[in-house]
Amino acid sequence: MAFNKRIKIKSLLESDFVGQEMTLMGWVRTKRSNKNVSFVALNDGSTINNYQVVADPNIIEEEILKRITTGACIKITGKIVASQGAGQNSELAASKIEILGDADPEKYPLQPKKHSLEFLREIAHLRMRTNTFGAVFRVRHALAFAVHKYFNDKGFFYIHTPIITASDAEGAGETFKVTTLDIKNPPLTDEGKIDYKEDFFERETNLTVSGQLEGELAAMALAEIYTFGPTFRAENSNTTRHLAEFWMIEPEMAFYDAEDNQDLAEDFLQSVISYALEHCKDDLAFLDKRAAEEEQSKKADQRSELGLLERLQFVTDNKFERITYTEAIDILKNSTPNKKKKFQYLVQEWGVDLQSEHERYLVEKHFKKPVILTDYPKEIKSFYMRLNEDGKTVAAMDILFPGIGEIVGGSQREERLENLTARMQEMNIPQEEMWWYLDTRRFGATPHAGFGLGFERLVQFVTGMGNIRDVIAFPRTPGNAEF
Ligand code: 4AD
Ligand code: MG
Repeated sequence: MAFNKRIKIKSLLESDFVGQEMTLMGWVRTKRSNKNVSFVALNDGSTINNYQVVADPNIIEEEILKRITTGACIKITGKIVASQGAGQNSELAASKIEILGDADPEKYPLQPKKHSLEFLREIAHLRMRTNTFGAVFRVRHALAFAVHKYFNDKGFFYIHTPIITASDAEGAGETFKVTTLDIKNPPLTDEGKIDYKEDFFERETNLTVSGQLEGELAAMALAEIYTFGPTFRAENSNTTRHLAEFWMIEPEMAFYDAEDNQDLAEDFLQSVISYALEHCKDDLAFLDKRAAEEEQSKKADQRSELGLLERLQFVTDNKFERITYTEAIDILKNSTPNKKKKFQYLVQEWGVDLQSEHERYLVEKHFKKPVILTDYPKEIKSFYMRLNEDGKTVAAMDILFPGIGEIVGGSQREERLENLTARMQEMNIPQEEMWWYLDTRRFGATPHAGFGLGFERLVQFVTGMGNIRDVIAFPRTPGNAEF
């Protein structure tokens, strides 16, 4: 007989089932008992809301009741009855309870009290059983679904780009090597270097830092594509916004210029955030309250003016500010924190890279809304970005979000072969190895553009979680690959 004859709590709460016989399965959050009755708050993961199960000691054996402890997994059959108590319209009057899995209360680490996020990170294998993480991962799912829906509705094709590659698309050299060579005793060339000809792929390989270059190849055939996959960067950044393994969404479009690219990115972000607002009401209401409580513990000048839900609504309802890098430098040079030397990195001249303190000033203090920063100096951007008329800047765009900083990086691509190879030469990027990339500029080249959205940064923004480690199930960061 099939085991999975159950109703999910989410469905149970959506309609009226009073009088019907039902089976629930889930994990015990709390149990309150008096001598006449026990009330069990059950959660089955389908929703943030628990469902109340009522167990009468005249019906349910004492032996079973004792084993209903926080964290235990149980199966309950009984009748849905109108609820006496406040907060819920109905409850389940148990006629039979089975213990599927005990959770020894002496040893179970999650107790019905507030645990710190730091502590929960150490027990990431259990933290999804808390309200906060349950909400975060349901919202993360909804956002991933919204991403696919958005592009599918627009006729984009999902391309799976390789995870193991021989190129370093961003040219920053922060890659994880992939090898099957014996690291204690690698084969050597005559010059004494590691002989990658002997390696599995007969060449040096690494985990991908971006699917963009392969995405461009696909866009030169299917016109509008996107990737959504894992991305790996070996940067030693211990910040609240960096992971060594993260997920990135990279649309790439033929026949798009820089402005088309900005329009798409803005519409895309607004649309997936609206989807979450519409489909994750209970979870976001909970996260909104959680964020408000967390704000209370911050210093007054560090608190955000808007609550989480207000912030999301604000982003979906208002146009993003669009300014050039050059305009941003002027604003920053004349800003109070720059003049009072409050920035750690003072902005003195055109050409410097922007630090996250500068990005946050622009978004949170100056414009107070998302900003699309465009046309950066070519020296601080990747080789593939299209050179502007001025010969100094490239058609880059970064989108900056309040509380997050850079959430999107993208550009119109350099489709002119001579410009591209000149740039590669200047930046010491080997052209022979990239023959396949350059072929797209040799055969049927067209203006095209694309961008990359850091998925965890989006989930951070939508859930209001302050640390990126708390929006991916099992974070990978320097010194940390447990679970
Ligand atoms: O700005 P990035 O490096 O751009 C690219 O990789 C391009 N190939 C994208 C494209 O044009 N197709 O990265 C894009 C985004 C960033 O804006 C950020 O949101 C996220 O990826 N990101 C990270 N997220 C978490 N941890 C890290 N270490 C990240 N590095 C980048
Ligand atoms: Mg970037």
